Amino acid sequence: MKQLAPSILAADFNCLGEQLQRLEQSGIQYLHIDVMDGMFVPSISFGMPVIKSLRDRYKMFFDVHLMVEEPIRYIEAFRKAGADGITVHVEACEDLTATLKKIREVGAKPAVSLCPETAVKEIIPVLNQVDMVLVMSVHPGFGGQTLMPDTLNKIEQLKKLREEKGLSYTIEIDGGVTRENIREVASYGVDIIVAGTAVFRGDIAGNIDQLQTEISMEGHNAS
Ligand code: DX5
Ligand code: ZN
Repeated sequence: MKQLAPSILAADFNCLGEQLQRLEQSGIQYLHIDVMDGMFVPSISFGMPVIKSLRDRYKMFFDVHLMVEEPIRYIEAFRKAGADGITVHVEACEDLTATLKKIREVGAKPAVSLCPETAVKEIIPVLNQVDMVLVMSVHPGFGGQTLMPDTLNKIEQLKKLREEKGLSYTIEIDGGVTRENIREVASYGVDIIVAGTAVFRGDIAGNIDQLQTEISMEGHNAS
């Protein structure tokens, strides 16, 4: 079943706990956590202390997306803080293989991400090392951007490679997913769909309900 992974970047941090409870009550199992360092991307979000403060209260899978230069420096710290999965960018790692290996060693699930302008062929050498590939459908750095439709064909390329190589990584898409386009996004056969603004703006439970309904309608033409 396809998972909807809300991104807490779009949450109201003044009542984060309350909002996360609403996610769990709506059956959400994946929480997308965007960490930005002001170097790899222009903005700065939050880091280990925020993740640590949430860890014990929620059972959701903590899917930590590191938009950080040379993330190998912080793998242990994010695992200690409570990350279940750690995603690093191919563009940010001098030694991607070593970085992914380290994520596995500390007991988290390794994942690799690629920016819109990066071709799938850049990550082929590490596909057998990852549990997930994160396809960015916007330029990383900010929530609330518009999805770049050209990025969606990477999902098909990654599915084909998965089949050819007998691998089992999941495929996640991140950025610009809305109520209007989520059905089409789902129809590409992606496994996990991140949504920030579309989940947190307005009525969270209602938004999740509508987004899940759209996902389940995949294959039917959008109305
Ligand atoms: C962008 C982040 C995304 C973002 C998604 O750098 O990686 O996860 O928060 O937000 P929306 O769904 O609002 O585009
Ligand atoms: Zn993200």
